[in-house]
Amino acid sequence: MAVFVQLEVVMILLLIGSICICIGEERDIYLVMVEGDPPVAFLQHDHSAGQNLAADSHIEILKARHAKHLEASHDEVLQSSLEEGSYKKLYSFNHIVNGFAVHTTPTQANKLKNAPGIKVVEKDSGAKMMTTHTPNMLDIPQGVWHAPNKIMNTAAAAAGQGIVIGFVDSGINPVHPSFAYDPSIIGNNSFPGVCQEGPMFPKGSCNGKIISARFFSAGALAGGTLNASLDILSPFDEDGHGSHVAATAAGNHGVPVVVNGFSYGKASGMAPRARIAVYKAIYPSAGTATDVLAAMDQATKDGVDILTLSIGPDEPANKKFTMLSMFDMFMLFARKAGVLVVQAAGNRGPDAYTVASYSPWAVGVADCGTDRTYPSSLVLGNGQKFNGIGLSAPSFGKGLLQYKLVLAKDAILANGDFPTTPEYIDECQHPEALDPVVVQQSIVICMFSSGFYNGSSTLPMIINTGRTLGFVGFVFIANPAYGDFIAEPYPFSIPGIMIPKATDAQLIMDYYEKQTERNDKGIVTAYCGRASLGEGRVASYTERAPIVSRYSSRGPNMIDVNKTPLDLLKPDILAPGHNIWAAWSPMSASHPILVGYDFGLLSGTSMAAPHIAGIAALIKQRNPSWSPSMIASAMATTATAYDNHGEPIMAQGQGIYDMQPSTPFDHGAGFVSPAHAIDPGLVFMSEYEDYMSFLCSLPNTDREMIKTSLGEMCTHSFRAPSDLNTPSLTISALRGSQLVRRRVKNVASKVEMYVCAVVSPTGVAVEVNPPWFTIVPQGTQDLEVMLNVTQVKDSFSHGEIVLTGSLRHIVRIPLSIVPVSMS
Ligand SMILES: *[C@@H]1O[C@H](CO)[C@@H](O)[C@H](O)[C@H]1NC(C)=O
Ligand SMILES: *[C@@H]1O[C@H](CO)[C@@H](O)[C@H](O)[C@H]1NC(C)=O
Ligand SMILES: *[C@@H]1O[C@H](CO)[C@@H](O)[C@H](O)[C@H]1NC(C)=O
Ligand SMILES: *[C@@H]1O[C@H](CO)[C@@H](O)[C@H](O)[C@H]1NC(C)=O
Repeated sequence: MAVFVQLEVVMILLLIGSICICIGEERDIYLVMVEGDPPVAFLQHDHSAGQNLAADSHIEILKARHAKHLEASHDEVLQSSLEEGSYKKLYSFNHIVNGFAVHTTPTQANKLKNAPGIKVVEKDSGAKMMTTHTPNMLDIPQGVWHAPNKIMNTAAAAAGQGIVIGFVDSGINPVHPSFAYDPSIIGNNSFPGVCQEGPMFPKGSCNGKIISARFFSAGALAGGTLNASLDILSPFDEDGHGSHVAATAAGNHGVPVVVNGFSYGKASGMAPRARIAVYKAIYPSAGTATDVLAAMDQATKDGVDILTLSIGPDEPANKKFTMLSMFDMFMLFARKAGVLVVQAAGNRGPDAYTVASYSPWAVGVADCGTDRTYPSSLVLGNGQKFNGIGLSAPSFGKGLLQYKLVLAKDAILANGDFPTTPEYIDECQHPEALDPVVVQQSIVICMFSSGFYNGSSTLPMIINTGRTLGFVGFVFIANPAYGDFIAEPYPFSIPGIMIPKATDAQLIMDYYEKQTERNDKGIVTAYCGRASLGEGRVASYTERAPIVSRYSSRGPNMIDVNKTPLDLLKPDILAPGHNIWAAWSPMSASHPILVGYDFGLLSGTSMAAPHIAGIAALIKQRNPSWSPSMIASAMATTATAYDNHGEPIMAQGQGIYDMQPSTPFDHGAGFVSPAHAIDPGLVFMSEYEDYMSFLCSLPNTDREMIKTSLGEMCTHSFRAPSDLNTPSLTISALRGSQLVRRRVKNVASKVEMYVCAVVSPTGVAVEVNPPWFTIVPQGTQDLEVMLNVTQVKDSFSHGEIVLTGSLRHIVRIPLSIVPVSMS
């Protein structure tokens, strides 16, 4: 198997080499859905004439035969519609979707659109990792894994036992201790994964913790942007992102985090006994939807319990209908096949309508910070102390209490051979520009300036300059001309601190100027300023948390790129994603700042999604029969809208210090509460047919398009999309009154009485019927929610319905409603 795939990769390379020379028009990748036969997962067995299907092996044979048949039909469509030599088929999708990916010219793709039997043709719009970059300088947030400790108390060390989580990402670092095999992991050995070997991924890399590892590269190879010295064609993670995500969800318990010789504590995944199935589909130099979809098809075929997508298109791939993009269709069919799909909500916040998770069949995860900070400090010779940011050793570890303070600009060599823009030198990017005698054994002030502003200067270069010239440490300060900057902690290999506030920077400069003697030409004659750097690597757990991160994408949800509101709450839920420590890959091909590290401190909804995937594994372990919508509902209804101060959760806004009270469009149902989510009392369920009805009930729906994409007519629809049985209720235009239906199921083991209470959104009267009910185990109860406009408004207001059980289950349903006038 492994060998076969390797050969295929080589062939594709050769073909691309020869084709590109002779074709003038540029090629792109197109994703195509085909009419007719169902994909393998949804094959009706009784359709296969006369076979005895009792034996599993027979079914397997039929499935394989059907897959071959679909593949042949794809080749046939291509041969009969396109010119020979004008295309290259990259994949046949046959498990959850009947379709293929083809590399061809726009002219040929147009022909395909009109060919008989073709449902949809979508240009591959790429896929990216949902990190906000690594701790770099501008705009970096991150989460926390000390939360796992609290969670572990409920599920102890067996957390996630027996569950398989699939990761479509940048691969995995198989030698990392977070993925070491622990013989006490009990697995289902029938998982049909394979272990593809390749560079950096030798035989034995799949070890019982990592139970399967594949890579998908036809799309990346067709794009022609892969770089042989960066991108590795094997399941090995040369980036670090995939390892970080997998470890956050399912990394081993209690793995020591040691960086630059300092111990930051122990890391643990949310579900440390869950097993990992790796589907590498993204590379440092290339990410295509094509490889991602092929990976999703395979993961579903393998039968993962949970699929984690910290990658995806950051913007709607289908401009007319967000939920009908190929990516969303693959998620729908994975969900239909029984897989819980968790996706990052996107990092384009804090503006409204930036969420990149649209569909009710996937859980879209928003991102928040935690209560952990790493306080670090600078003390000047006059005793003034400044707080700053940086995971740094203290300068007094070097022996002296205080060191000479030097402004980099004052230490410029008189006749050096270096770029002469003073700002450039100010930023400590060029060791050759500074006088070694002056800066050695000093604390050097480097200043934020145009090079950082336009992204050409970097923090690793400051550290490099400091190492080269023997700084005791550096102070990287804001520049009043540019204002404050946003700083995030990451490990410095020499003492250093970032002072991101311009007012602090001014005070430091005032002190420095007062202490520094100059001649009449302005040349420094004596540096009398002194400074020391404090310990910056010890965590403090006192911050207000959670706070929704600035970059976390926000609702409302939308039907199309014109922001037509979609009556469905997104994001779904909030989890830690800002400043998260987890496993890394020392190659760190796209993050120079983390090269050589075994652990990375990262931020993004990429880091939030695997927290939810791991918690879902804990729920699934306790409740093996629960469907994906039951698990998603359990997490949503038990989430909290309050922070660790007992106040409503806040959300960061546009400005550096902006904060407003968070709404469901920032935090979804709220901050996930694992201890409650494993025992939610009631759940709201919805299945594939419900999603169809939902799509068919959207206003001004293009029913033709739904039929084409899903292959089914709109035979039934809800009176309104808000009737989809979700654990939330969103109405973007409530006129007069509206009745909305919900149905709950009791998943607890005892009879319980529930009382319904309402916090009404401004301008809306809400009544729930019945106002109370008694429900037996496994019983269901219909609820009618009557909504009446009492005051017209032109924007959303929020409230909630709370069902409180006699056995202390609390079920919260957020309401987001715009009450509009009748006309
Ligand atoms: C490939 O990566 C190497 C190493 O990062 C880099 O030096 C080189 O410029 C890259 N080549 C291309 C074509 O991008
Ligand atoms: C093991 O996994 C396979 C495939 O996911 C599944 O069909 C089977 O029911 C599982 N068996 C057990 C005992 O959980
Ligand atoms: C960024 O700013 C630096 C310093 O002013 C300048 O030398 C460089 O050319 C600029 N780069 C870009 C891409 O604008
Ligand atoms: C809402 O309106 C309906 C019909 O218009 C009425 O029967 C009901 O009492 C109203 N409910 C509330 C809470 O105002």
